[in-house]
Amino acid sequence: MLISKWYFFLGFLFITGNRVFAVTEDSEYWTQDAQTRLLQRIATPLIETKAKNILFYLGDGMSLPTISAARILKGQKVDKYEFGEEAELHMESFPFTGTSKTFCFDAQVADSACSVTSYLGGTKANYGTIGLTTAVQRKSCPGQADTKNHVASLLSLAQAAGKSTGVITTTRITDASPAGTYGHVAERDWENDAAIRRDNQDPELCDDLPEQLILREPGRNINVILGAGRKNFLHQNQTDPEYPNVRGERTDGKDLIQEWKASKNPTNSKYVNTKDELLAVDTLTTDFLLGLFEPDDRGYVDQLEGKNDPSLEDMVQVGIQILKKNPNGFFLFVEGGLIDNAHHGNMAQRALFETIEFDQAIKLGDELTNDDDTLIVVTADHAHVMSFSGHASRGHSILEVTDQFVETLDDLPYLTLSYANGPGPWVDPETGKRRNVTSDDFHAIDYKVAAAVPRRSETHGGDDVLIYAKGPFAHLLSGTHQQSYIPHVVWYAACIGPGAKHCDNHPGFDGAHGVHMNKSLSLMSILFIIFFSRVI
Ligand SMILES: *[C@@H]1O[C@H](CO)[C@@H](O)[C@H](O)[C@H]1NC(C)=O
Ligand SMILES: *[C@@H]1O[C@H](CO)[C@@H](O)[C@H](O)[C@H]1NC(C)=O
Ligand SMILES: *[C@@H]1O[C@H](CO)[C@@H](O)[C@H](O)[C@H]1NC(C)=O
Ligand SMILES: [Zn+2]
Repeated sequence: MLISKWYFFLGFLFITGNRVFAVTEDSEYWTQDAQTRLLQRIATPLIETKAKNILFYLGDGMSLPTISAARILKGQKVDKYEFGEEAELHMESFPFTGTSKTFCFDAQVADSACSVTSYLGGTKANYGTIGLTTAVQRKSCPGQADTKNHVASLLSLAQAAGKSTGVITTTRITDASPAGTYGHVAERDWENDAAIRRDNQDPELCDDLPEQLILREPGRNINVILGAGRKNFLHQNQTDPEYPNVRGERTDGKDLIQEWKASKNPTNSKYVNTKDELLAVDTLTTDFLLGLFEPDDRGYVDQLEGKNDPSLEDMVQVGIQILKKNPNGFFLFVEGGLIDNAHHGNMAQRALFETIEFDQAIKLGDELTNDDDTLIVVTADHAHVMSFSGHASRGHSILEVTDQFVETLDDLPYLTLSYANGPGPWVDPETGKRRNVTSDDFHAIDYKVAAAVPRRSETHGGDDVLIYAKGPFAHLLSGTHQQSYIPHVVWYAACIGPGAKHCDNHPGFDGAHGVHMNKSLSLMSILFIIFFSRVI
């Protein structure tokens, strides 16, 4: 009887891919679930071969409550599980998890700029600055212009080691997180020359971010650049190719999209404006790809229909096909950038769907690469102040008011998800008391969840964020770390930059083979152990 149950259990794991719908989750189920996971973990070897490829996934503002709530929303609205809590995000399947302390040199709570310097450059930095040491104060153009203050990013070191490189995001390609792959700016808002002038600094002395991406190292050598934000690449006399009413924002007369095209060999490079053009790219003959899909940020994933803009998965699919042609491997940075935007507007459901889109792009990247030679790191730059509260019953909608232990001192119900601050209305202007949200449309995609402290924009949170990792030396990321520790592990695993000199000391490292266990053997042994542990 026990054995037949195991067949059933393994059956749905392998045949329907983790769908636990309609399985009775009684105590026996949980015991078996834990035993299976334990045995899988025991049989999972450490991988200590050199990381040829690096996939670095950044969920902008993907706090821990965001991950938990996204998992449940996915279970309830996408996978349609019996309850929802039993769903799993792909990132959760990674064998190693750590936490990252995100404070910056001069700030308790990080912004995406100082944070990207930390997780891609290996040193904490000043709030609002990107790719610069702590010596540079925010908005100091002279500090930016002095190259001895520049911090090399993981992308730049990967390029120096002969790898192909790419950067993909759902936001402007010049927004702080993607800018951290190629940029060195004293002010994250210096996304065009006019912005530098507005801060009374000299755009002749300091390049803005699009100039750094198109004209300087390492930006101009990046093979795959996919995101949005065309307005910062076009000058004021130019109209946007898709929106005739939108103009460029540059005041220096430069058309940097044209300059990118002119700097490349037309036979192996391609510029694209739309999803259709992106999906038509011949990845075999294309070695350089620039895609800018919107004048500003791309729309939220729920707004894509009918818009000819790619999903994160579309971009990752094309990007990896181009990058993987390099026998030396590649570095690819992929950002789910709109999780942050949605949280800033207290649009909890949108933030969760952006997280689910991000997770699907992680799954695709994992499927297109091998654990033996590809280190995948998934993390966030900082948290947000969405809280997941109350004592709702199992399977209760994550988007609705809490259904259990509702006793509040003002006798009004409350939502499971709420924010410490932001634009979501908390007080009823007529009564001056907390709003009765009972008949709100919680399921509207742009519904603004109540926030305790009114602010035009919700703030980031200072709590630690998670690191999920798999592949070569991923285990070095388990534990609690400073955010600036993360790239040091990648350097070491990939033998690049400061990590190159340690390469000979990799424990058990012997080139292509390494010490990892034979995979088919380990899967066989798991099945064997599971089977016989039940018979006995
Ligand atoms: C933009 O238009 C103005 C007014 O017509 C003109 O003086 C200027 O030269 C134009 N700039 C560029 C870069 O075309
Ligand atoms: C809150 O609103 C609901 C539905 O509109 C109503 O049934 C309930 O009585 C209200 N609660 C309070 C305390 O006013
Ligand atoms: C792994 O083990 C299986 C079964 O023992 C064997 O057939 C296969 O050749 C091995 N593969 C490698 C790469 O050693
Ligand atoms: Zn933010």
